[in-house]
Amino acid sequence: NGVTHLDVAVIGTGYVGTTTSIAFAAWDHKVIAVDSDQMKIARLNQSILPFYEEGLERRLERYRESGNLSFTDDLEQGITRSDVLFIAVGTPSSPDGSADLSYVEMVARQIGQMMDKYKVIVTKSTVPVGTGDKIKSIITDELKRRNLSFSFDIVSNPEFLREGRALYDALHPERVVIGCETETARKTMAALYEKVEAPMLYTTIRDAEMIKYAANAFLATKISFVNELARLCDKMGTNIMKVAEGMGLDSRIGPQFLRAGIGYGGSCFPKDTAALLNLAKEQETMLPVLQAASNVNRTQVSWFMERIHHIMGSLAGKKVTLLGLTFKPETDDVREAPSLKIIEQLLQNKAIVSTYDPQGMENVKKIYPQVAYKPTPYEALEGADAIILATEWREILDLDWTKVKDLIAQPYLFDGRNALVPSVMRNLGYCYVGVGIDGRG
Ligand code: UGA
Repeated sequence: NGVTHLDVAVIGTGYVGTTTSIAFAAWDHKVIAVDSDQMKIARLNQSILPFYEEGLERRLERYRESGNLSFTDDLEQGITRSDVLFIAVGTPSSPDGSADLSYVEMVARQIGQMMDKYKVIVTKSTVPVGTGDKIKSIITDELKRRNLSFSFDIVSNPEFLREGRALYDALHPERVVIGCETETARKTMAALYEKVEAPMLYTTIRDAEMIKYAANAFLATKISFVNELARLCDKMGTNIMKVAEGMGLDSRIGPQFLRAGIGYGGSCFPKDTAALLNLAKEQETMLPVLQAASNVNRTQVSWFMERIHHIMGSLAGKKVTLLGLTFKPETDDVREAPSLKIIEQLLQNKAIVSTYDPQGMENVKKIYPQVAYKPTPYEALEGADAIILATEWREILDLDWTKVKDLIAQPYLFDGRNALVPSVMRNLGYCYVGVGIDGRG
């Protein structure tokens, strides 16, 4: 039927690697996913994901059974059996904010040590501009050492999927960005994405690397912009939700990523903005807009907690129930979640903290064992003097708020995501406080 089946290895089975593997398997390529973590591979071989993501496990099982997808901890096997190698290992933040490339560089070295013929080597991990060049020189050095002289191509193909919607985003991307510099690489990438209807943008490797950072930095800036305005709205008696709605109807602005709240978290925005700022610093270039966006995000939880103190006075000895822990709904990811800063500040202020989250409790328990983790939201809410909503899980928004009212000691409800309907909550008797919607705080 004219469709090309490619042999693909995806190195790294984190969020991006696993989802990418499943997407390529769905498009009928033969995928070997590789990870050095044997436990992880053993579980993936039983179709168990290392993280929670709706719909992904069923697909995993399906493509393992169809033979399109397999998992191994043997990198050499992954490398020698495939024509296209995706690097999807982690790029955590170093203490100075720069991206730590040690995993990427280690994989590049191993590829150079093990490859046996021409390959297309693609970065999926989010990496600083210039990483493609680095990978190229590492592999070239290794091949020289082995007295081998066949060629290879480097491609940058950043991933734009969102956690919680990973499968959908991977299967239906809005665009595919390919940074490549040879015709062979371009043809291979076109064949890989043959079944995708989205626009394909071909650029240089460095441009593709920059696009990924630029897109995340811009989205983070959009959020910080409304969060900053929300602070003013609170002083002025204006409503940021209405203001954002009015702004978003302008197609040049667009309605998305204008929801004010307690700030962005997750494994991407905080890390990628820090990495881009660091990259700029190395080039002795200022990015004042992005710097400001990052500052607003860093202080947004404190600003919100100030409001709580202003309304409630001292929190010492008060029982505070935190609803939602993950950095956003539909994930178990708590990396850089605003809820962690909230817990930190509540504990500092000697509040008694109880919490409920549909997926995130195990991950937070490891960091804050002194918080009470409850199996149901209602148990977490018993006797509460204040409720803080930190993640807008459907299950939390859909609580029986009349029943909740009878369980709590005082009706203070602080909605850190502007996710509940203020008039409804106030009619039920709550003292409802959102972010930039109440005025004169
Ligand atoms: C983000 C990007 O949206 C993806 O396109 C990108 O691929 C990914 O990073 C990545 O680099 O891997 P993700 O971190 O999964 O995806 O989550 P988002 O949906 O972007 O949310 C990030 C944070 O912003 C969350 O804490 C969310 O609560 C917050 N947010 C989002 C707001 O506070 N307001 C908004 O209007 C939107």
